[in-house]
Amino acid sequence: MSLKAPKGTIDILPKDSAKWQFVEKTLRDICDSFQFKEIRIPVFEHTELYVRGVGETSDVVSKEMYTFNDKGERSITLRPEGTAGVVRSFLEHGLYADSQPTKLYYMISCYRYEKPQAGRLREFRQFGVEMFGAASPAADAEVISLVKHIFDKLGIQNLTLNLNNIGCPSCRKAYNDKLKAFLTDRKNDLCETCQERLERNPMRVFDCKSEVCQSVLKDAPRIYDCVCPECKAHFEEMTSYLDEMGIAYQLDKSIVRGLDYYSRTVFEFVSNDIGAQGTVCGGGRYDYLVEELGGKPCPGIGFAMGIERLLMVLENAGISLPEPKEPQLYIAAIGKEADKKAAKLVHTLRCAGIRAEKDYMERSVKAQMKYANKIKAEYTLVLGDDEIAANKAQLKQMETGESQEVCLDELKEKFLS
Ligand code: HAM
Repeated sequence: MSLKAPKGTIDILPKDSAKWQFVEKTLRDICDSFQFKEIRIPVFEHTELYVRGVGETSDVVSKEMYTFNDKGERSITLRPEGTAGVVRSFLEHGLYADSQPTKLYYMISCYRYEKPQAGRLREFRQFGVEMFGAASPAADAEVISLVKHIFDKLGIQNLTLNLNNIGCPSCRKAYNDKLKAFLTDRKNDLCETCQERLERNPMRVFDCKSEVCQSVLKDAPRIYDCVCPECKAHFEEMTSYLDEMGIAYQLDKSIVRGLDYYSRTVFEFVSNDIGAQGTVCGGGRYDYLVEELGGKPCPGIGFAMGIERLLMVLENAGISLPEPKEPQLYIAAIGKEADKKAAKLVHTLRCAGIRAEKDYMERSVKAQMKYANKIKAEYTLVLGDDEIAANKAQLKQMETGESQEVCLDELKEKFLS
């Protein structure tokens, strides 16, 4: 039996890890400029956190969670997303007692039992930010401007920012009644799951992927048109900040987001070039979640982007990303003595931050040079008895074939200069 990685998981191999590191560093640097600080949260939490936070009727909670009982018979769930865990940590450590806002970011793996396809995995990675304590529409705009800056910085141009306003619990109540009445009249046209959603949380019908349900929804009332004056004003103020910053957007009244905690602003950055799973980033305001999870009322806003999807967009746009770095120097050795000297030299060079490599396979000198070529070493140096005795060797630049004599004691300085 050959062992394979579980369905929906990927290995990030050495040939690709430089790309990931580059993207991750770019994200970290941008968070630094925007003054978001990193938070690291556990991979698993008590199941109840997600049931209460993300919502029992969401697909994520009702169908997609990796939930199990641990040996102490506690129900544990692998995090399907980051927001609930970050809110839990924000409350548990009293971060709300600091001067607000609290601006946090995270890079995490997430777990959802979904049907794998291009851009949809069971283990995937998210980069996300959460800002607590700021109710102002300017905070929504700041978070959106951070995402926009990430795409600009990475050279991504062809993403659309879609916005919607899904109101607050009070305007949502009236809307839910309206939507329920509309859907009840067409109940027989809905799929079985949506018939159930209709009873428990009618807005979740918008999450349905079935074409039949989507066609029923075509003429359904939209929450955007039913929000209260305060929610309407918040949205208008928020878009005026985006206008001021020159950030283009489109209104998409069908966005409700698949998680229950959102209120007012919701947004998605969508690509048309990477297939059906084109939503690279999604987020919104969640002014009631902190309270829902046991804290005092505290507004929040954030987003998360799938890093695999981000890399797909970059690749699709032909944006070149760094390859693994090649060695600056390969030292080939002839014989045991020279091999020990080579070990000492590469150690000294490596400790000074120079990418140096040598043989560990007991290859002949010819095979060592062939290997140096294969790994694209920039320079090579052959070490034998004569070189050790003279404390000098020929340093060869592989691309030009040019050689120069160097004193072995000065090798480090040569590379550092
Ligand atoms: P989400 O829309 O569920 O939101 O996920 C955010 C992003 O994660 C998606 O836009 C997508 O890029 C990526 N993603 C989701 N599921 C998968 C999957 N199965 N495979 C690959 N990538 C995936 C949230 O998770 C919210 N917590 C975002 C948020 C933060 N809202 C406020 N703060």
